[in-house]
Amino acid sequence: MSKGAHISSREQYDKLYRQSLDDPEAFWGDIAESFHWHKRWEKPFCRCNFDMNKGPISIEWLVGAQTNLCYNAVDRHVEAGHGDRVAFYWEGNDLNQDSKVTYRQVQDMVCKIANYLKSIGVKKGDDVTIYMPMIPELPAAMLACARIGAVHSVVFAGFSADSLAGRIMDSRPHVILTASAVKRGAKPISLKTIVDDAVTKCEEEGHKIPFVVVFDHSLAQKRSEVPFTSGQDVWWQDVIDPQPIECDVEWMDAEAPLFKLYTSGSTGKPKGVQHSQAGYMLGSATTFKYVFDHRPDDVYWCTADCGWITGHSYVTYGPMLNGATQVIFEGIPTYPDAGRAWDLVDKYKITVLYTAPTAIRSLIQKGDSFVTKYSRKSLRLLGSVGEPINPEAWKWYYEVGGDKRCPIVDTWWQTETGMHMITPLPGATTLKPGSATLPFFGVEPAVLNDQGQELEGEAEGYLVIKRPWPSCMRTLAGDHERFEKTYFEIYKGYYFTGDGCRRDKDGYYWLTGRVDDVINVSGHRIGTAEVEGALDNHPACAEAAVVPFAHDIKGQGIYAFVTLMDGYDYPPDESLRKELVAMVRKVIGPIATPDVIHWAPGLPKTRSGKIMRRILRKIASKEEDSLGDTSTLADPSVVEQLLNLRGK
Ligand code: WTA
Repeated sequence: MSKGAHISSREQYDKLYRQSLDDPEAFWGDIAESFHWHKRWEKPFCRCNFDMNKGPISIEWLVGAQTNLCYNAVDRHVEAGHGDRVAFYWEGNDLNQDSKVTYRQVQDMVCKIANYLKSIGVKKGDDVTIYMPMIPELPAAMLACARIGAVHSVVFAGFSADSLAGRIMDSRPHVILTASAVKRGAKPISLKTIVDDAVTKCEEEGHKIPFVVVFDHSLAQKRSEVPFTSGQDVWWQDVIDPQPIECDVEWMDAEAPLFKLYTSGSTGKPKGVQHSQAGYMLGSATTFKYVFDHRPDDVYWCTADCGWITGHSYVTYGPMLNGATQVIFEGIPTYPDAGRAWDLVDKYKITVLYTAPTAIRSLIQKGDSFVTKYSRKSLRLLGSVGEPINPEAWKWYYEVGGDKRCPIVDTWWQTETGMHMITPLPGATTLKPGSATLPFFGVEPAVLNDQGQELEGEAEGYLVIKRPWPSCMRTLAGDHERFEKTYFEIYKGYYFTGDGCRRDKDGYYWLTGRVDDVINVSGHRIGTAEVEGALDNHPACAEAAVVPFAHDIKGQGIYAFVTLMDGYDYPPDESLRKELVAMVRKVIGPIATPDVIHWAPGLPKTRSGKIMRRILRKIASKEEDSLGDTSTLADPSVVEQLLNLRGK
């Protein structure tokens, strides 16, 4: 337990937690006082319906208020005299590439981007797609959109041209902000080439993107080697650098959209999760402050890319709304060797490190000497996010990484929740390795059984949330019906998380993984249907069925059963496996690379033609001894056939 923490005892947590549920207006209203409002909120403070029996789902917080997140995250600190405080220590992919950006410099950068966007006609409510590496210009671009009320849609610059094109077609931006290239590890990746492919695809589908702004990232690729289309492309340095460093902020209604972020669901098409302004501001800022027990002299490092929700809430918004100093790293923790992360900890005197179990597992594998050769004395707190942290990884992170000194905050939350939902508070919560522990303020979880009944006390079942919290997504972009169907229709009156969990006798929550058709690969969500759709693109593929399996490093891996078109022999030529894998990489991106392709002359189906995934999961996990009842299969012999083709 740390003395002097914002929340320094269990009693204090309990008291505030109770208040946050009994009187949300007093609790969140108090917190809201520390931000700048152009117009204050009115009554009611919160106007929500979480129950489809009572009508359409709607969520509004700080009703009637007007604010601006960029103003609160940047200008407010500069005006308070903190302009010289470092906002970002930027560390490039290669050693000896670094820079430092103060809050005043971020303000300049943001205003220049915002002025340029305005100059090409981007207005309040317009969409801007961002496809950039982890350089300071990326969070600055997000903040520039927030400043003028444009809705950013950041696409992780590791997604393929097809995935990018899909997201562009869905949000129809006026402009794409990108960079020439990125290096993550030894290999440069030409982002511009990927953007060009995506732009062409969109044009074929009838959407012309008027402007593509390319940041000349010469550390990754020489300018002369970057493909450039005059009349469409402009260099960032040519058009943004000369802009004025003043730009009025656009005061935004509390409920106006702030951003869209696409994430995988049970069906093929990624969902555009849409967040709004004021509630998201309170949620991301308050969780950052309490969960990381933020102090002004902290140097905080979140290893997530801004292309994911973790980078939105815990790189761009949460930390900056608190005026934090943070490290932004373009590369990967294993390049040039597995000591890189700890090297950065010492170099920047990092106090708080927030990363994912998959990264921890990849470091464990390389051996402790990469860690112990660095002092790591500056660290005081460790965080984990993205997937359940297994006991071995927890123990190593605590004992080796943090030298048994630093508590671990295992934070459970989702793209949809916008903020930490179940998490320890370092000064108040007694930790149990592997448990995300207790709900954050204002969050009321419940555990349901198969029949949708709420279970009391010790229980295992589906994790749902009983009431709205400020940074809950407001809708799925352009598809409120899908939003209601996906999250609110199954268990009326609750938000359905898609996760299973156990609650122990102390009321601690233990997340047990997704219960829907979403695979959590290295902490990233991939829909089984998306991978199946990608495999179907190959002319040799007649049908594919994808299931998760336990993977030592990634947490879960992607296991694909593939039935080939008539005329192929099983097993087919080895080159076909490579082609299928390449197809998935092309359609979705390298993060969705199948780990196993298992040839399947037939798939286990019921008589009505439904694939019995339960059986495929057992085969993928090598648990064929416990296949269970196979009598309902249309053709039980396919199981034997599949087992014969294992490893072929
Ligand atoms: C999983 C990432 C266990 C979970 C912030 C959730 C976790 C999905 C944890 C959301 C955790 C995230 N323990 N599982 N601490 N954090 N998850 O939208 O299955 O990329 O539903 O958001 O990741 O993934 P998303």
